[in-house]
Amino acid sequence: MNPDKIVCNCMNVTNGAIRDAVYSGAGTLEEVQEITGAGTVCGACLDDVKRLVEQFTAEKSQS
Ligand code: FES
Repeated sequence: MNPDKIVCNCMNVTNGAIRDAVYSGAGTLEEVQEITGAGTVCGACLDDVKRLVEQFTAEKSQS
């Protein structure tokens, strides 16, 4: 995974920023949206953001 890849173009949010939000305690899509702003403008990235939140949440629980 490239942490610098932009997931949300509207808010310039990267993979890494979503990962950081999850690792710093955000457990749901809504919380990640609040912290990063991802998915709060046009909504086109929401599926990707949601998938990443699920992926990082799973990763975090294994570490
Ligand atoms: S691309 Fe994420 S809200 Fe538009």
